[in-house]
Amino acid sequence: MSHANNWANPSNASDQEIAEMASGLEERGRAPDQLQVNSALMNVLAPAPGDRLLEIGCGSGVLCRWMASAVAPNGRITGLDISPQLIGIARDYASGAVLADIIQWCTGRAEALPFPLASFDGALAARLFLHVSNPNTILRELARVVRPGGKLVVMDWDFDTVAVDHSNRELTRRVLHWRCDHYGGNNWSGRQLWRQMASAGLSSLKVVPIVSVASREQDSLTLSLFRAAQVARDGGGITSSEHDAWVEELKSALTARSFFASIVYFIVVGERSSSALL
Ligand SMILES: C[S@@+](CC[C@H](N)C(=O)[O-])C[C@H]1O[C@@H](n2cnc3c(N)ncnc32)[C@H](O)[C@@H]1O
Repeated sequence: MSHANNWANPSNASDQEIAEMASGLEERGRAPDQLQVNSALMNVLAPAPGDRLLEIGCGSGVLCRWMASAVAPNGRITGLDISPQLIGIARDYASGAVLADIIQWCTGRAEALPFPLASFDGALAARLFLHVSNPNTILRELARVVRPGGKLVVMDWDFDTVAVDHSNRELTRRVLHWRCDHYGGNNWSGRQLWRQMASAGLSSLKVVPIVSVASREQDSLTLSLFRAAQVARDGGGITSSEHDAWVEELKSALTARSFFASIVYFIVVGERSSSALL
């Protein structure tokens, strides 16, 4: 059984689900392991004063707000998302921020960007490609709207790289494989980004792998693992008693401060050359 993925089809989500998705993104943006990942992502993108940057699939706007301070005072950030409700929430979250005027919000599909050729100095797609069926179309669109010499940066996790310290290897593999293959989109997206960027004709490709480590309750991966056990149980990948035993050991490890898990995020960066496929 495959689980419905609200990130791929936010128009199917209720208002309450959208509000929960937005607060989940904000919470994740504050989690220590995700601060490390987002900070590595910003180092690769390297936003500079005056830059005009685009984020597609911006959600609640965590990364747009982060980039705004780097491009101030004369730069511009454009956050685009397929969900008008999420764009409304992102605008509200940013409205109190000192740099709110630097960010423009836009509802639209990444597959058909409403911007002319070479409108941006760089573009970012973070945690988006795992939720779309046509990354190649999206990369062509990004290459069209970024100026020659501008940077394209994409990032996703690869859920098959999760390592968890647990005494039951066989059960751990079943939980993780079920989560990887049946829930939350294409969880192999991370390892596919390089091929997709190369096929889009981008030049000077580089990959930056980030090993994100979770050792605390407030780390985002910790929550993802409890969720993995829950969806594996609900989907029939493990039994209820296997769920309880697996989760119990992780909870005890958290209490004993011996909990350890990790996942790899792949950041791929390329340049829009004049020969990039348009
Ligand atoms: C998991 S969220 C990532 C949010 C943000 N990039 C971050 O890292 O915090 C994925 C976002 O992509 C949006 N999305 C999904 N498909 C899209 C598409 N085809 N075009 C534009 N946005 C899309 C969803 O609405 C959601 O807000």
